[in-house]
Amino acid sequence: MPLIAPSLLASDFLNLQTECDMLNTSEADWFHLDVMDGRFVPNISFGLPVIEKMRKASTKPFDVHLMILEPEKFAADFKKAGADMLCVHVEACPNLHRNIQQITQLGMKPGVAINPHTPLVMLENILADIHHVCVLTVNPGFGGQAFIPQSLEKIRQLRRMIDERNLQVKIEIDGGVTLENAGQIVAAGADVLVAGNTVFKAADPVKMIADLRKI
Ligand code: DX5
Ligand code: ZN
Repeated sequence: MPLIAPSLLASDFLNLQTECDMLNTSEADWFHLDVMDGRFVPNISFGLPVIEKMRKASTKPFDVHLMILEPEKFAADFKKAGADMLCVHVEACPNLHRNIQQITQLGMKPGVAINPHTPLVMLENILADIHHVCVLTVNPGFGGQAFIPQSLEKIRQLRRMIDERNLQVKIEIDGGVTLENAGQIVAAGADVLVAGNTVFKAADPVKMIADLRKI
């Protein structure tokens, strides 16, 4: 059974309290929070003050996905705002090992996100030190895009890399997850499904979360 991490990027920003209440009562496992800086990705979303407020309204782990350059400048602030997991992009971190050390030392679970064009070999020497890999299955920056089909092979490859090393690293899939493709994604080896539009634009988001979880 996959874990489900609804992405608040697709939520109703005017009613975040209601959205948090809905997720609290649902079977959602994590809150997935997408932070963008307009530099690493061509969009700006929300940041620290919003996460800090949401923390007070929610009862589940916060999975913060940083799509920003120089994430080391803000890691301590995200811990303070309530992040339980902090995920940085391999493409944004020339000293990735140091970033992972910092996140771990701050008491958060470190994740590494990888863009669709970046080969998995970039993760080989960091895999043993992290909690999860966030595989971007769309180009980061926007919700509501279509799942890139080549990603399925990448997920299978990553599953093999993790299993061969006897690691417990979780594979999180981010971008374009739907009820239709979730089965294939889980069969390829995913542990966690991020879902933005599929959850928040559903007629019944609580039921959608339960349905995704049953996959
Ligand atoms: C993309 C973000 C995703 C996004 C997913 O940059 O990292 O988390 O919110 O949205 P959907 O599920 O709508 O593709
Ligand atoms: Zn994300």
